[in-house]
Amino acid sequence: MRILLVGSGGREHALAWKLTGSPRLEQLWVAPGNAGTARLDDRVKNVAIAADDVDGLVAFASTNAIGLAVIGPEAPLARGLGDALRSTGIAVFGPNRAAAEIESSKAFSKDFMARHGIPTARYGVFRDHTEALRHLLSIDYPVVIKASGLAAGKGVIVPACADEAEAALRQIMLDREFGEAGDEAVIEERLTGPEVSVLAFSDGHTVRVMPPAQDHKRVGDGDTGLNTGGMGAYAPAPIATPELIADVTRSVLQTTIDGLRAEDRPFVGVLYAGLMLTPDGPRVLEFNARFGDPETQVILPLLESDLVEVLLACAEGRLGDIDVNWSQGAAACVVMASEGYPGPYPKDLPIAGLDQATTDAFVFHAGTRELAEQVVTAGGRVLAVSGWGVDIRSALDRAYAAVGSITFAGMHFRRDIGWRALVRGAGSAGARGPGASTSAPMSS
Ligand code: AMP
Ligand code: GLY
Repeated sequence: MRILLVGSGGREHALAWKLTGSPRLEQLWVAPGNAGTARLDDRVKNVAIAADDVDGLVAFASTNAIGLAVIGPEAPLARGLGDALRSTGIAVFGPNRAAAEIESSKAFSKDFMARHGIPTARYGVFRDHTEALRHLLSIDYPVVIKASGLAAGKGVIVPACADEAEAALRQIMLDREFGEAGDEAVIEERLTGPEVSVLAFSDGHTVRVMPPAQDHKRVGDGDTGLNTGGMGAYAPAPIATPELIADVTRSVLQTTIDGLRAEDRPFVGVLYAGLMLTPDGPRVLEFNARFGDPETQVILPLLESDLVEVLLACAEGRLGDIDVNWSQGAAACVVMASEGYPGPYPKDLPIAGLDQATTDAFVFHAGTRELAEQVVTAGGRVLAVSGWGVDIRSALDRAYAAVGSITFAGMHFRRDIGWRALVRGAGSAGARGPGASTSAPMSS
């Protein structure tokens, strides 16, 4: 099988790494990839085509007899890369533009959930700022304000008071801080409870759920500081009990896949449900139409099945015919970030100590490139270091052991990844509101 993988982050390095575990893989091209994907094995090559260059990717796939295209990030999905590749007859893992709207339009996603009875927070969608403001002043519950479109994880504002909520509406709808992502704004009821991500493979009919994951969005230990793309993750998250997963698989994941198909938007790829476990039960905060980053770096080490088989079965509409098997262990991932991230950061700094791969840890590259034979930093999130073992504790030990031998100037990382899984009592839904996170241990 000749495969084209689109993207350049830690998620794509993890996908490429797992694909190389398949005897079915003949050749893998990663567009554009990073220094990590460039160094995997002889079958893997980077190709310098940007992830959102739809025409360039379609031309490359056609001339190189690609048998399967795998699309990592949301931006090319929202641009219709899936549609363009499928129209040339190539098998694609990743939804078409219309199905990807479940992520790229929060307005569509909320209305879709309302139509199909999928549990989510109360909301309103607005195109007009005056109307949005009128609605805000008419309601008596705390809110979250969201730009409807794609905003690289930054378009969600959780205001602390009414003035901040008004300011958020202004930022999104008038100042256009997130550009056209703010054409529509969603005003949503603010819920409380722990969060968990449940991802599933789908071929448009069947869903095969993955181990539940938790990521760490804030930059600092104890869940403090600014929001990031994710500073670490672990799986399986013990808070998501088998009963909860069974409920979410039925009432959220399968209902969504069936609803999208019924609305003529068949979904092939990874459906990612970001959930909040409220005292009233799980509620969907958002859907993503792709693997998460860094969730992928903890989920794929636990996959025992052949990833080529699974992705191809999705793309060919026969996921129901195969089993997807997972190991009983756990995995954890620590993101090493550039100085200043999530704000502005320097680039091209040399990284030392990278050859730390063992049989139970792996250094996934997130933002790196090769410069004169040296691996240098090229992004805010530079590395995603994963470890795995029989439980979260041993997975964390292995990840942090590998982190300990890597250095680059100004690097920072969280020292408390997985703390929720290690704290006793973290398994009770609703018992820990956001305030509880200040009690996170600050281990060294
Ligand atoms: P989203 O991109 O929609 O998942 O939102 C990003 C983050 O904002 C989530 O992970 C939550 O921490 C927070 N958030 C989003 N929606 C809500 C909500 N309705 N209530 C409370 N927090 C929320
Ligand atoms: N880690 C969250 C995401 O990939 O959207």
